[in-house]
Amino acid sequence: MSLTPHELHLLHRGTVRHPAVPPPRGPLTEFLFGWLSRPVTTLPAWPAAPVDLLTDEDAVLALYVCYELHYRGFDGVDENWEWEPSLLGLRRELEAVFLADVRDVAGPTLRTGDVEAALRNLLAAGDGPSLSEYVATDSTIEQLMEFHVHRSAYQLKEADAHSWALPRLSGTAKAALVEIQADEYGQGVEKDMHSELFALCMRELGLDDTYGAYLDVIPAATLATVNLGSFFGLHRRWRGALVGHLAVFEMTSVEPMGRYSMALRRHGYGSWARLFYDTHVVADAHHQTLAARDLAGGLLRAEPELCDDVMFGAQALSALEGRLTRHLLDRWAAGRSSLLAPVAVA
Ligand SMILES: [Fe+2]
Ligand SMILES: [Fe+2]
Repeated sequence: MSLTPHELHLLHRGTVRHPAVPPPRGPLTEFLFGWLSRPVTTLPAWPAAPVDLLTDEDAVLALYVCYELHYRGFDGVDENWEWEPSLLGLRRELEAVFLADVRDVAGPTLRTGDVEAALRNLLAAGDGPSLSEYVATDSTIEQLMEFHVHRSAYQLKEADAHSWALPRLSGTAKAALVEIQADEYGQGVEKDMHSELFALCMRELGLDDTYGAYLDVIPAATLATVNLGSFFGLHRRWRGALVGHLAVFEMTSVEPMGRYSMALRRHGYGSWARLFYDTHVVADAHHQTLAARDLAGGLLRAEPELCDDVMFGAQALSALEGRLTRHLLDRWAAGRSSLLAPVAVA
């Protein structure tokens, strides 16, 4: 039996490489990254408290790197930093500002008696521009590449933040999450894991699919959307918001994924490049119901007091994704790169 190029790539992939710590973007990351390169110790007082955890490149990257210690870590960074109390103290300070900023842009939490209907209403009421429509019909090849670089921050670890909810749920909600996550992780088949399908797409585009390869050029607008999932995922207290967050992901996937596949086809890319998107069109047709009815609905039947949190998570993701869409479309409309620096393509 002959192997596909995708299977061959996975077969010959070397040992796990941890990403490099990116270059600092200001005094806070200067401070943090300087200490992370040393053996774990108590951090001294850090520079002035950040004021904006959605757009400040320095502060958003600092929080992102704190969170990455819980995912893959960094080359040359002592793994014991992950639970160093003083670093957690810094993270907590950043998270307090982040949460206030997110509450601000998410708006007042929508009250609801029927979470499935409320989630559908929330998404139907969205009135911002559509990134997928633009990418499908108007994107240049450079913009299509940039889109994938932005998405790599999340898609190369797709589903991981939501896995943190597993030990915190029970009953129907837990079973629904397991079913969703099993698909996200390719039913235990490496080549079918959604993160691997995204890596395949990047390689087909001539992009570097190494985890963290583009962290130095991915702006705060994108990193903040990834920080949101990590924040909800790492705090049991925010399990309701994490469920709302995942529900929105699943419920806003099918049509956009079809459009991104269309964009790749328009630019001449074949079925291997499009497999990530085509897989989602099928999988998320099922996941969207599962996430709204059984995951969110099941959680609220078990813990009805989490209703506001579920809606907050849903509204927060919609708001941050809307801001990212505007960032990309504004930059592109101005003829500029949406990244901190344009990427070279192989
Ligand atoms: Fe997926
Ligand atoms: Fe999904």
